[in-house]
Amino acid sequence: MNAPPLSPRIRNTFAAPIPTAKAWANRYDGRAGPTIDLTQAVPGYPTHPDLASRLAEGAASPVQARYGTIDGDESLREVLAADINRIYGGDVGAADVAITAGANLAFTMAMTVLCGVGDQVMLPVPWYFNNAMALSMQGLEALPLPCRAEDAFVPDPDRAAALITPRTRAIVLISPNNPTGAIYPPDVIARFAALCRSRGIWLIVDESYRDFLPETALPPHPLFKDPEWRDGLVHLYSFSKAYCVAGHRVGAMVCGPRVRTELNKVLDTMQICPPRGPLPGLTWAVDNLHEWKAGNRAIIAERARVFREGVGQLQDWHIDALGTYFAYIRIPEGERDAMAVGETLATECGLLSLVGPFFGPGQDRHLRLAFANVGLEAIAAVPDRLRALPR
Ligand SMILES: Cc1ncc(COP(=O)(O)O)c(C=O)c1O
Repeated sequence: MNAPPLSPRIRNTFAAPIPTAKAWANRYDGRAGPTIDLTQAVPGYPTHPDLASRLAEGAASPVQARYGTIDGDESLREVLAADINRIYGGDVGAADVAITAGANLAFTMAMTVLCGVGDQVMLPVPWYFNNAMALSMQGLEALPLPCRAEDAFVPDPDRAAALITPRTRAIVLISPNNPTGAIYPPDVIARFAALCRSRGIWLIVDESYRDFLPETALPPHPLFKDPEWRDGLVHLYSFSKAYCVAGHRVGAMVCGPRVRTELNKVLDTMQICPPRGPLPGLTWAVDNLHEWKAGNRAIIAERARVFREGVGQLQDWHIDALGTYFAYIRIPEGERDAMAVGETLATECGLLSLVGPFFGPGQDRHLRLAFANVGLEAIAAVPDRLRALPR
């Protein structure tokens, strides 16, 4: 049979990292204890019970079962805008907010609006693998901006300035960062905004983990206070992590009217409307779960502490970065590269991680461990699993 071809863009996109790592786990025989799965960035605790019952009501509601407006229910757009203004001190209105079927889709949709085939988008490295995948699927080029462990993986705006080319359309910042957990200082984010403005390129800021910032780190940046933010900034947010509703697929994009007019075409085509069942519950949650979210911040911070205490004691492994959900650890000197080590840890030690090469060029010596996934007992067992790596 003359099999029809597939898109070269999709064939050139690397395979989904998490299923790849999980497939390794199928070959683990349990010898070191139960599998510890630190692949995915999800909080390992359930959502708030009052939100859970509202989600159930939303799922059963005949009104929410209908198509809604392309940018999501107005009530949620209003409360999210107010929440953003409370945190950042800006003037965001409901009209600036589009509710999306997750922040990942929001990123893809933003790229569809802002970039054309062959354009470049600068991603600090290590990068969030789905950003790189989304670019390659759309015929866009990821332009790596290398970040250094010595700088706590905070990207350098001067280095970025030197890398921009006439094809560069946007710079993407994720703070707190996936995969390093790095929190970019507000003045660094502001310098990136100034750079983008001076070079006529878009700044995309993904703040899917902003609810895990300590109170002392707020506001995360001053960008929404700039009266001209609508002409240069696209902000992405996810409800997945903060409200433990990753499977319900709700995120948001905040942008100005020029982007929005074009985005409406994309929203209509790619999502028609966001999933509607969760929206009334999330509208309630934004204003009513502050204390619960603070408790979750403390839970995750405790997991980070226990991780640092245990893995930090190992002689040969090094924690290059640790924050919010993630530790980005360096493989011992003289050991095989990340792909081989990650596979062996999965198949022989029952420890599932994501390997550095998924996070961009030059990451062969690193693993990402998403410790937010699991409880303290499992985190305390991680050092033994690393020690058990056959050499
Ligand atoms: C930085 C970042 N953005 C977006 C997402 C995906 O969010 P959502 O579940 O809303 O699509 C993730 C999930 O890991 C993430 O780490």
